[in-house]
Amino acid sequence: MERIKQVVITAPQEMGVNTSRTFSGETNFEAVGKLYSESAELFAGLIDKYLPEGGEYRIADLGAFKGELMREILKRLNIESEYKILGVDVNADALAKNDVASEKITASLDSIPLPDKSVEISIARYVLVWNSAERQRDILKEICRITKTAAIVQHAGADSEAPEMWRAKMDDLLDGEEVVKLKRGEHYFSSREEIEQWLQELGIRFIRVDEVSVPSVSDVFIERFSLDETEAEEARRVLGEFDYIIKNTWVILPKE
Ligand SMILES: C[S@@+](CC[C@H](N)C(=O)[O-])C[C@H]1O[C@@H](n2cnc3c(N)ncnc32)[C@H](O)[C@@H]1O
Repeated sequence: MERIKQVVITAPQEMGVNTSRTFSGETNFEAVGKLYSESAELFAGLIDKYLPEGGEYRIADLGAFKGELMREILKRLNIESEYKILGVDVNADALAKNDVASEKITASLDSIPLPDKSVEISIARYVLVWNSAERQRDILKEICRITKTAAIVQHAGADSEAPEMWRAKMDDLLDGEEVVKLKRGEHYFSSREEIEQWLQELGIRFIRVDEVSVPSVSDVFIERFSLDETEAEEARRVLGEFDYIIKNTWVILPKE
């Protein structure tokens, strides 16, 4: 069924000065490395595994930004098949600078203007978190709907052991009161447990590929938003004992 809907597009304005460098995985910080540098190798391996052989396929980069991640993935792909990259993002400015995708759609991922199963493989890294819980669930449903073979979803979020306490600290940091540069709009750091519960409720098959606790998540903000010494100290203080984040990766396998 083809679903073309008008959506109101609002691009997030709160990207840090080093955002592109961070997303590409160029870093000296261990936490940034664990969250950003390792994805390309993992994603490329999974695409190699799931993309059918021979033929021409469409790979969708959902929440593509300027293509930093996809560029790194393409360097590591080992496939014979022909493929085209489709970039989807609500941020039209970032998408305009994306020279990795040959097709681009400015749209919100909870209502993707594409027919069912119109892309072979899709990827979505660190996209869910900048949406409400309800919208994250809708995004997962949409990813599954438009994907034919496999979708790779990577997420960094709350500790399933103490999600409310963990989120309270992160919310505190992102309200911008202590560190103005870190003020963010809508966000919800869902836990692995919540995401897997939504997937189960939606009847979506998935495989969890990894779960890693990444220490010193404050370093990601320090690097990406180029925080000075005082701001960096404040960010570490606000997160306190919850200065870590849980990274998970899933492969979603849509039904035949
Ligand atoms: C943290 S960035 C990650 C960019 C890229 N996926 C990566 O990992 O390098 C999140 C991206 O997802 C996009 N995004 C977040 N929520 C979205 C939504 N509901 N619809 C479309 N794009 C969204 C943002 O505009 C941004 O470009």
